[in-house]
Amino acid sequence: MEFRALCAALLLFFLSSSSAIAVTIGEDYVRPRPRKTLSFPWRPKRSSDPQQVHISLAGEKHMRITWITDDQSTPSVVEYGTSPGVYSSISEGESTSYNYLFYSSGKIHHVVIGPLESNTTYYYRCGGKGQDFHLKTPPSQFPIHFAVVGDLGQTEWTKSTLDHINNCQYDVHLLPGDISYADYQQHLWDSFGQLVQPLASTRPWMTTEGNHEKERIILLESGFQAYNARWKMPYQESGSTSNLYYSFEVAGVHAIMLGSYTDYDEDSNQYTWLKADLAKVDRQRTPWLLVLLHAPWYNSNWAHQGEGDSMMATMEPLLYAAGVDILLAGHVHAYERSERVYNGELDPCGAVHITIGDGGNREGLAERYKNPKPHWSAFREASFGHGELRIVNSSHALWSWHRNDDDEPVQSDQVWINSLASIGCVPRRSHELRKVLMGP
Ligand SMILES: *[C@@H]1O[C@H](CO)[C@@H](O)[C@H](O)[C@H]1NC(C)=O
Ligand SMILES: *[C@@H]1O[C@H](CO)[C@@H](O)[C@H](O)[C@H]1NC(C)=O
Ligand SMILES: [Fe+2]
Repeated sequence: MEFRALCAALLLFFLSSSSAIAVTIGEDYVRPRPRKTLSFPWRPKRSSDPQQVHISLAGEKHMRITWITDDQSTPSVVEYGTSPGVYSSISEGESTSYNYLFYSSGKIHHVVIGPLESNTTYYYRCGGKGQDFHLKTPPSQFPIHFAVVGDLGQTEWTKSTLDHINNCQYDVHLLPGDISYADYQQHLWDSFGQLVQPLASTRPWMTTEGNHEKERIILLESGFQAYNARWKMPYQESGSTSNLYYSFEVAGVHAIMLGSYTDYDEDSNQYTWLKADLAKVDRQRTPWLLVLLHAPWYNSNWAHQGEGDSMMATMEPLLYAAGVDILLAGHVHAYERSERVYNGELDPCGAVHITIGDGGNREGLAERYKNPKPHWSAFREASFGHGELRIVNSSHALWSWHRNDDDEPVQSDQVWINSLASIGCVPRRSHELRKVLMGP
């Protein structure tokens, strides 16, 4: 009996550490190993210098600028304008901070600037001093280009993924959860902020939470303290009462960021908010409807198998009635794209489900898939990489997945997606949607 237990333990060890071994898949591709966690040397800074600058969309024509200072006296103001070093406008915002076990955060500043012109470069300065930053606002009409990746972490693979995203022309970055992998060690939130600043200070980063953002310790610490304080998203702007779910609109796209780690049953606040948000969607103005969440609903990888099932049972009928085009998830450290699917069956008016939790975190890849491949699964592969969604016009979008192969972003999957609005699915279902929205 003991010998069997030992064997089982050894087997488990080899399965769980198999990502450390380069595995050959197919004939031509050798899967890479996980890479080292990045180290961040401690560099003393002037305590009022802005650190960890990142930006996010904050309602029509507005952007939220977030940064941290060690000292408490720096004012929460942002000066900005369309020429370098010439600040024609100034906005004042708010600040927050938090304590977690023995850690005390710096002063976390949130300042909303605007109204801003679309598709325009702005130069800005935080707290009245320090470096000049710049950002580009998204266009107000198609085409619009999204970069997408979840489960980033802060390893050398993360760096490779970020470098590839930095080299593509994108307007907005979408992150379906598990961003810093701080996992209770609060200084790792700071090093993550430092790592992503070059990208996140120039393009809006729109996140939703994953399980690694939770950091709850029973009786000691409540959940999502660092995430909510540092990554404030436009929830108030979208009528939500929680930073864990919200929506935003950009250039003909309505994007809904759902929370896999907060209540989602039919009498929850999230469900009620989702119904109200869907009722506001105008497919003339925003023909594309996207949803992001962390734990995937269609997943043929053995990793996290079934974890999205109960949320899917509650919310999939609502999203189907509303005609959601694409649902992007993370959590599973691999890539998978589905056919249009609803309730487990192929459906021409269902959503395309994409799992893109392959940003490069320290846990490595999820390599074991269920076989045979389910009929709804169109493409699956366990490699690090990122996705790009180019919404060309109201009817056509080009989705592509780029593998971090040998540090080159190799395009490995590409597909044209037609909007449901353009193929007659949305009007057909508006009666059904009304019924669901009016229902209890
Ligand atoms: C945004 O600006 C770029 C360069 O100025 C231009 O080429 C592009 O057409 C603009 N996009 C939209 C949607 O206006
Ligand atoms: C939308 O873009 C696709 C792909 O480029 C093109 O074939 C189609 O004609 C465009 N539709 C409209 C209405 O412009
Ligand atoms: Fe996760």
